[in-house]
Amino acid sequence: MSLPTEMLPTEMTYVDLRSPGGAENMVLARGRLPQVDPGDILIRVEAFGVNRPDVLQRKGDYPPPPGASPILGLEVAGEVVALGDGATGFSVGDRVCALANGGGYAEYCVVPATQALPLPKGYDAVKAAALPETFFTVWANVFDMAGLKRGESILVHGGSSGIGTTAIQLARAFGAEVFATAGSAAKCTACETLGAKRAINYREEDFKDVVLDETGRRGVDVILDMVGGRYFGRNLATLAKDGRLSIIGLLGGARVEDANIAAILTKRLHVMGSALRPRSAAEKQAIRDRLAERVWPLLEAGEVAPVIHALMPFEEIADAHRLMEEGGHIGKIVMRIA
Ligand SMILES: NC(=O)c1ccc[n+]([C@@H]2O[C@H](COP(=O)([O-])OP(=O)(O)OC[C@H]3O[C@@H](n4cnc5c(N)ncnc54)[C@H](OP(=O)(O)O)[C@@H]3O)[C@@H](O)[C@H]2O)c1
Repeated sequence: MSLPTEMLPTEMTYVDLRSPGGAENMVLARGRLPQVDPGDILIRVEAFGVNRPDVLQRKGDYPPPPGASPILGLEVAGEVVALGDGATGFSVGDRVCALANGGGYAEYCVVPATQALPLPKGYDAVKAAALPETFFTVWANVFDMAGLKRGESILVHGGSSGIGTTAIQLARAFGAEVFATAGSAAKCTACETLGAKRAINYREEDFKDVVLDETGRRGVDVILDMVGGRYFGRNLATLAKDGRLSIIGLLGGARVEDANIAAILTKRLHVMGSALRPRSAAEKQAIRDRLAERVWPLLEAGEVAPVIHALMPFEEIADAHRLMEEGGHIGKIVMRIA
């Protein structure tokens, strides 16, 4: 490990999950700094993002993969304070944001150097901490896997979520026509402000009927779905020929009921899904490299930007989880470490 330019403490404050369960089970605690292995960088965390997978992990429904930190937290931004042997691309003192394999809810976090990116020009740590989890996920699922192309159309479910606000903007920036669903009029307005041609309040309208009406009965080329089982049949019916359904979440359950899968044959549909966290280091690095090349210029030009609903102090992490679970937020919840 290279010598840090500052004297590092031996202990840090982190969010300890005493046992799986409610938000109150998360408490601030003191513990040792994480070990910096070969290829890792150690980041002094200035801000970190809260994501729905953190809520699932807190409840015990999404255990960390083998070898990952048991501490919650999948994205951080701050300053590089130490480098593991062989870690390249960054120096001590650089300001970065990174996709973490865990351990982000802490004053110090180790990540593979291959999962870090420089802060986009003009960005502070708060704004940058809102980027990694949703931008890696949307890039991997919408562009790499579902292959959304300029001139095509996409339906983004959960359009006002952290993932949804990212997907709407990126799809629009890369020349697609965007539809979105959301659960209130205010959320729908936000989706349209971000670039959706038409947002659908799913509590009042059927997204299939609206999308088919809006597209002259053709349907959309891609659907990014976080609802899962409950939407499966209607998603198939909403896709155009050669359409691609990318499932990234199961907020509406994993069981499929009442779906006519004949459309998969007659319309040559592709059904796919993925989870980011268990992906290999090489896969995460490949996504990181594509983001640096294709998306960082858009962030720096201001064409795309994270939507930050709330910025809260580290100490209020339980309230931040409650805010996310209440579901009234639009965009991201970010925590700042003083
Ligand atoms: N596969 C992956 O690699 C990956 C990575 C990151 C996140 N995800 C998934 O992507 C989804 C969004 O994550 P996020 O961090 O952006 O979450 P988020 O900001 O908390 O947004 C979730 C939104 O989904 C909507 N929703 C629809 N049905 C819901 C239900 N039954 N229960 C709760 N919310 C419901 C809610 O808005 P409405 O008011 O519109 O209903 C809610 O605001 C989650 O399912 C998460 O697990 C997947």
